[in-house]
Amino acid sequence: VNLKNTIKFYLSEATLRFQKAGIESARIDAELLMRDVAGLDGISIITKNDMTLSADQESKWQNFVMRRLNQEPISYILQKKEFYKHTFFVNPSVLIPRPETELIVEKVLDWWKSQQFTSERVHILDLGCGSGCIGLSVISEIPKALLVGVDVSQKALEVARVNAENLGLLNRSSFVEASIDEVDAKGFLKVHDDKFRIVVSNPPYIAPDDPTVDEAVKKFEPSLALFAGPTGFERIEAWLSSAVQVLHRPGICIFEVGIHQSPRVKEVFQSHKIFHKIEVLKDLSGIERFVIGYT
Ligand SMILES: C[S@@+](CC[C@H](N)C(=O)[O-])C[C@H]1O[C@@H](n2cnc3c(N)ncnc32)[C@H](O)[C@@H]1O
Repeated sequence: VNLKNTIKFYLSEATLRFQKAGIESARIDAELLMRDVAGLDGISIITKNDMTLSADQESKWQNFVMRRLNQEPISYILQKKEFYKHTFFVNPSVLIPRPETELIVEKVLDWWKSQQFTSERVHILDLGCGSGCIGLSVISEIPKALLVGVDVSQKALEVARVNAENLGLLNRSSFVEASIDEVDAKGFLKVHDDKFRIVVSNPPYIAPDDPTVDEAVKKFEPSLALFAGPTGFERIEAWLSSAVQVLHRPGICIFEVGIHQSPRVKEVFQSHKIFHKIEVLKDLSGIERFVIGYT
């Protein structure tokens, strides 16, 4: 056996190169890429590491390694990302779903279970749905629930539709291509002639001059998904104005916000006067990450 052709060899070589390139999760990344290339699970990668790659596999491997060395996120290379209970298809037209955003799903489901309308066909609105990860995760847990996902990016909506189909949720989902800033909020009601019990949103909330944004994020993720106007609050405020026009009562509205944004966003929630309770929820790193209003 030519040792230079084994999985073991490729893995240790790539790990070293990743480490030299400053990639923190070097070994894990190499293994994740190899699983996909060799079609093996995490254990077989180790137990069958004297296996060799075919010529096709080897060229795919070289391509993956080069892309990772260029700082491309692993999720774009593998075109998938785990979120809540499912694997979502992703490509560079959508934000890579973040683990903290899963809390939106959990919070909504907790609220829904605490309500008495379990037999109702609940309507859910996901503003800036991107890959569809939030809204699709919610309706996958609520029988008969209907999702309306809105996004200005047609390419993002194509990704959301693929995910709806993969999860068997296409018949309970509709996707609307519109700018939430410009569209008359009542336009959402024409899609479903009912109000929404649940409105979720992870809007773009970064100010363009924010120095804390990771270089790889800026380089690879869609700027449309990341950046709001000059202050960072523009999308949140405009979208909340739309949300309050279509919220049912009782209902819940959750927005994800950026670091330090929660006090001002809470005030904007208060200014709408339709919420009887407003909460701020921290993410697992202790950052005030979500503002929640209950009608
Ligand atoms: C932060 S991403 C969130 C994606 C997904 N909901 C998630 O949590 O992973 C924001 C999304 O808003 C969309 N977007 C940006 N500006 C918009 C606008 N004016 N109207 C509608 N959608 C917009 C982007 O295309 C992007 O998909």
